[in-house]
Amino acid sequence: MKNYTLKVHDVKKETQDTITLCFKQPGLRKIKYQAGQYLTLSFRINGRKYTRPYSFSSAPSADAFLETTIKRVPEGVFSNYVHDSIQVGDIVEVMEPMGDFVHTNDESINEIYFWGVGSGITPLISIIKEVLISNPLVQVNLIYGNKNFESTIFLDTINQLLVQYTSRLKVWHFHTQYTHDEKHHFVKSGRINQEFILNLLKDVAIEKTAHYICGPVDLKNTIKEALAVLECPKATIFSEDFELVKDPKDFEDILTQHVNIRFQGNDTLVEVLKGKSVLESALDAGIELPYSCQTGSCNTCKGKLKEGKMRMIGLAKDRDDLEKEDYLLCCSYPLTDNVYVEIGN
Ligand SMILES: Cc1cc2nc3c(=O)[nH]c(=O)nc-3n(C[C@H](O)[C@H](O)[C@H](O)COP(=O)(O)OP(=O)(O)OC[C@H]3O[C@@H](n4cnc5c(N)ncnc54)[C@H](O)[C@@H]3O)c2cc1C
Ligand code: FES
Repeated sequence: MKNYTLKVHDVKKETQDTITLCFKQPGLRKIKYQAGQYLTLSFRINGRKYTRPYSFSSAPSADAFLETTIKRVPEGVFSNYVHDSIQVGDIVEVMEPMGDFVHTNDESINEIYFWGVGSGITPLISIIKEVLISNPLVQVNLIYGNKNFESTIFLDTINQLLVQYTSRLKVWHFHTQYTHDEKHHFVKSGRINQEFILNLLKDVAIEKTAHYICGPVDLKNTIKEALAVLECPKATIFSEDFELVKDPKDFEDILTQHVNIRFQGNDTLVEVLKGKSVLESALDAGIELPYSCQTGSCNTCKGKLKEGKMRMIGLAKDRDDLEKEDYLLCCSYPLTDNVYVEIGN
């Protein structure tokens, strides 16, 4: 895993609770990335190292700077720290870009639909910009849910793109705090719903479409259910999860256990409280294990189970690539009191 340090060139206010950090490319080792991937930022906050992934809102073909867009999460440690503390000129530690929520150039696809809500727009706008520049034969559609225009991230950028790519880009806004305005007939009241999706796609050659979804789990389910009704091939549906959604039922037989963690040659016995992952417990105990997504999507926290039993819960994606003894510690919970895991040796 390569790490870099980046200098903050600008901090742009997008909405009342969202900012974009613009980073200068390093002088020598330029960072290569694909539209839709994410950058993992780390800060030491009150003595403890915190790490969080943020999707690129910039696109390699469109933007000179590396940009990530961060929304404040109520009580959120990292997002509030960034909003309150980060300044132009600051140096930030980042990991190399990761993520497979990217556009693959498939010649059979002539129309792409982007479905997003709130800060879910970040990877979508990155891919939209890239596709508009690099794939002139592809039609782009954005269906974007927010409270109202004031809270709509990248409204100006989207409006500029609409002018620049009049014939290739269409946008529908959904507002939960809707106010009727004759000028804005493309704004709909409420949430993105199945009826709208089925109607929008009813005359479309569905096998020639691709779909990118980023937003809360309800949005993902609504879109995927509607696309299933339309028999859209699963291979052309892509989604990105910002957050792991835990189902309390999955934790019924999990107990507080002690886990022995071997990291960089040192063994530490860590108490893993019921409901906390092995990764969270290790971080709480001051062991700075490597991690990024915390949704079971990357491999940064991958450890090897040497003894005992663990279960992985809530992975955002199918992980057929893992070996039997491989466990993603951000989603791992001990089932026995003799668990011994090794990471980063
Ligand atoms: C692949 C990936 C890409 C991401 N890209 C972006 C991005 O482009 N822009 C962006 O703003 N965020 C993005 N996130 C989310 C981001 O990494 C952090 O999780 C988020 O900023 C919250 O961190 P925090 O430390 O402030 O909150 P924490 O202190 O970690 O969490 C505080 C509370 O908020 C809840 N919470 C955590 N994340 C969210 C969330 N996203 N929405 C609502 N509640 C939440 C937690 O369950 C917890 O209860 C991305 C996440 C992933 C996995
Ligand atoms: S931190 Fe990405 S899989 Fe655990």
